[in-house]
Amino acid sequence: MAAFTVAIDGPAAAGKGTIGRVVAARFGFQHLDTGLLYRAVGAKGGDPVSSARSLTAEDLSRSDLRSMEAGQAASRVALIPEVRAALVEFQRRFARAEGGAVLDGRDIGTVICPEAEVKLYVTASPEVRAHRRWLEVGGSEAQVLAEVRERDARDMGRADAPLRAAADAVVIDTSAMTIDAAVERACSVIAARFRI
Ligand code: CDP
Repeated sequence: MAAFTVAIDGPAAAGKGTIGRVVAARFGFQHLDTGLLYRAVGAKGGDPVSSARSLTAEDLSRSDLRSMEAGQAASRVALIPEVRAALVEFQRRFARAEGGAVLDGRDIGTVICPEAEVKLYVTASPEVRAHRRWLEVGGSEAQVLAEVRERDARDMGRADAPLRAAADAVVIDTSAMTIDAAVERACSVIAARFRI
């Protein structure tokens, strides 16, 4: 079968990860959460450019990568063009994996895989996203909302590969949707274009 790539982009805690996982399981695609690459670079410390150039499987399996701190560190190293450049080839190779691939991130449909067969932009209001993230991490919900807004501003405002929907992306706003409904919507968009 020819390669088939699904690109899923969107802001923090919009539901990209869950949608990516379910889509991968349902269609038999490989799944790459590209945020983990940036989280691993941020968590590794030291010079971010050398860290990005020498990432290992072990760096990607650290248990602290899902924390709010790791998310903030990721969005800071993600501003650096040399960091982004060091991660491009790995992501593009993954995208052409035999049997199909789904990648979720911020710039998959715009920069990494502009030729992706399906592009989804998954979003929700900052309040809804902060509430979902707060259910996972706890602490102060107001603080989580402030961090979500801060990260959105950094990701959307950066010069290199800013977060935005590709012109040909299907937008799924999950603000008033259950995650199951969002997954079904994503699967129906993919099913309409996926032919073996
Ligand atoms: O899980 P969540 O949506 O909170 O974040 P993530 O997808 O793990 O991404 C963490 C950070 O990495 C983002 O805030 C971006 O700054 C950066 N990132 C990026 O620049 N490009 C990507 N393709 C993926 C993540």
